[in-house]
Amino acid sequence: MLFERRLCCLLLMAIVSLTTASLDAKRMLEAPRRSSVTSNFRGDLGVFSESNYSFADHSFSSGIYLINSSAKNHQELLVPGKEAKVPQWVTDRSFLYVKDTSPSRSSIFVYDIDSRSEFGLYDHSAPISELLIVKESSRYRVIFTSTDTSGRDEPSDQSSVHVYDSLFVRHWDHWKTGERNSLYSIILEQDSENVHTLHSTTPTATDLLENTGLECPIEPFGDSTDFDATFNDLVFVAKDPNSNPATQTRTVVYLLNMTTLKLKVLSTAMGACSSPIISEDDSKIGWLEMRTPQYESDQNQIIVYYPKTGYKQHVVRNWDRSPASIQWGTLPSGEKGLYAMADDEGRRTLFFISTKKDQVIPLTKGESVLSVSNSEGSKLWLSKSSFVRPKYFVLYDPAKKVEELLLDANLGLDQSSYEEVWYNGTNGRKIHGWLVRPQNFNASKKYPLAILIHGGPQGSWTNTWSTRWNPAVVANAGFVVFTIDPTGSTGYGQKFTDDIALNWGGRPYNDIVHGVDYATNKIPYVDGSKMVALGASYGGYMINWIQGHPLGRRFRALVCHDGVFNTLNTFYSTDELYFPIHDFGGTPWENRAVYERWNPSNFVNYWATPQLVIHSSKDYRLTESEGISAFNSLQYKNVPSKLLVFEDENHWVLKPENSLRWHNEVLSWITKFVSDD
Ligand SMILES: *[C@@H]1O[C@H](CO)[C@@H](O)[C@H](O)[C@H]1NC(C)=O
Ligand SMILES: *[C@@H]1O[C@H](CO)[C@@H](O)[C@H](O)[C@H]1NC(C)=O
Ligand SMILES: *[C@@H]1O[C@H](CO)[C@@H](O)[C@H](O)[C@H]1NC(C)=O
Ligand SMILES: *[C@@H]1O[C@H](CO)[C@@H](O)[C@H](O)[C@H]1NC(C)=O
Ligand SMILES: *[C@@H]1O[C@H](CO)[C@@H](O)[C@H](O)[C@H]1NC(C)=O
Repeated sequence: MLFERRLCCLLLMAIVSLTTASLDAKRMLEAPRRSSVTSNFRGDLGVFSESNYSFADHSFSSGIYLINSSAKNHQELLVPGKEAKVPQWVTDRSFLYVKDTSPSRSSIFVYDIDSRSEFGLYDHSAPISELLIVKESSRYRVIFTSTDTSGRDEPSDQSSVHVYDSLFVRHWDHWKTGERNSLYSIILEQDSENVHTLHSTTPTATDLLENTGLECPIEPFGDSTDFDATFNDLVFVAKDPNSNPATQTRTVVYLLNMTTLKLKVLSTAMGACSSPIISEDDSKIGWLEMRTPQYESDQNQIIVYYPKTGYKQHVVRNWDRSPASIQWGTLPSGEKGLYAMADDEGRRTLFFISTKKDQVIPLTKGESVLSVSNSEGSKLWLSKSSFVRPKYFVLYDPAKKVEELLLDANLGLDQSSYEEVWYNGTNGRKIHGWLVRPQNFNASKKYPLAILIHGGPQGSWTNTWSTRWNPAVVANAGFVVFTIDPTGSTGYGQKFTDDIALNWGGRPYNDIVHGVDYATNKIPYVDGSKMVALGASYGGYMINWIQGHPLGRRFRALVCHDGVFNTLNTFYSTDELYFPIHDFGGTPWENRAVYERWNPSNFVNYWATPQLVIHSSKDYRLTESEGISAFNSLQYKNVPSKLLVFEDENHWVLKPENSLRWHNEVLSWITKFVSDD
């Protein structure tokens, strides 16, 4: 039945347009969701995991796949099952992966490519999430991440109470209970040249951080980039045990000798350190560091440390970008350095940094680079994506700056349906935006305009695929979408990012006003009488701010997802207190005027534009009372409004069935208010 309906749709679309398919929320949510690809050492094979959601079955189907550099655009399913994840190569012809055998146990398996067979190696009494394998002659050390639940506070009576006597009671979407992420190690040995004889010589994994009081990966988004290792040495980042994690961003780079378990502190920065990496010969350790305390969006500085001499090199200190991650790499010319990825004028760009020449070489410009594998090889395996192209893989030659497709993710979408624009913002400052058009766009028609405002506020609309706030899906509901990167955004130099501090409703608001003027005056296919604006998190703050200011009257409808209603409440109820302390210049009792000045709830008197409010109950960043307060205000003032609450979602609506409903509600809300003539 469903198949027939699809076929019929496809035929219809074929009549409307011979070249392009359409993209609605369902199609986006059912598109393959891939991990990044990891190539083997030789660089001829790659593995990744993929899962597809089906609204017919209401479930995901998943698996681990193989791709071959000499068989383009072909993926072979090796391991079916959604419990299989994080494949990592051991040899050129075998990889390890993790299978969750129950909600509370994981096993590590070895998969042999030549025989297409596998066997279990190690069983762990808690879920495993990441794997790293390092080799020394015929031995392998496997480092994995898991959770130590032994410190969990359980009530001593029959109650379910959580009790606290210090700050940091909850984080992102869970209450703090004393559980701790940790790094574990097992040693594998190979008896002959045949990988089938790999066995674990350590029957129980060693908890490498036991009794240190340290946690790695760092909650809530920590992953495999939080640590790196050679056979004997581990480098990792952890929250500074002497700082309160609710009020300080400080994380520290540690070096652990895994033989003696001796721990050494490497970094001294007062902000967050990240992306620690160690060279294969142990001669160099690199990391990123922020220097301003309590500022999570400070510029990442690149540090290279030489353990033999203790010398620390601050690399490319005049480079005005903030890299998100670094890894060791060698150019085909033999030049050694670092590959770095950073937000860069509306995309995620790959750079090479020569540590010797202290020079930055931008490599890609266009679709975003999400990860690099085979970074010591002459051709890199890149995972990339764009607004209209889900994650795909290419072989990239950094010398010639050319790429060959390895595996596409072609949904048949018009790849030219978006373009970047620059306009003059506050004080003539250049502001970047993307115009995203519907798939069946006709330049001689006029379209309603949808302005999208990103969160952060220190973030960016990068040209990447996403199942949340995908501009192409909004465009396909019949809008021209304009994503704006106002003051505070990342990828335009650190001053531009920093300039939102103490100015939340100031420069960014004016930049958006200029953006609306630009779109309505300069883009011929925009109908300036039919405009809507949507935003989440800080973008939701901006929606509530716009409601109370003149720009609000130019929109026919607004959508606020998990936004800020009251800046004072946000300070008192959020999880990471350092965030408002930095952005508002102190606590509310120290700097009340700034909180009051930029507080949307002080301007409710002017609210008049129809608004959809969405908030989720497990959002502990901006708590649900923000959404309820905004909705109550709209209702009290008889402004057409609607409230959606997702009790089982956090700051992001992630479950596909919830997300489909979210999209249906949001798109029908904005469509309703622009559909009259
Ligand atoms: C996901 O769907 C694609 C086709 O769109 C298919 O090639 C792939 O095998 C599917 N993957 C899984 C895990 O079902
Ligand atoms: C990769 O492709 C080449 C060329 O088709 C083939 O000879 C080789 O066996 C393939 N490797 C694997 C592991 O399938
Ligand atoms: C780790 O400790 C062992 C035992 O003291 C020592 O032999 C080894 O050199 C140390 N490793 C490093 C990289 O310092
Ligand atoms: C921005 O301002 C400059 C002058 O400062 C002007 O030359 C340029 O045309 C303006 N750009 C737009 C898009 O209006
Ligand atoms: C584009 O729109 C114009 C004006 O509505 C219309 O005359 C024309 O037929 C449309 N072109 C296509 C290809 O649909």
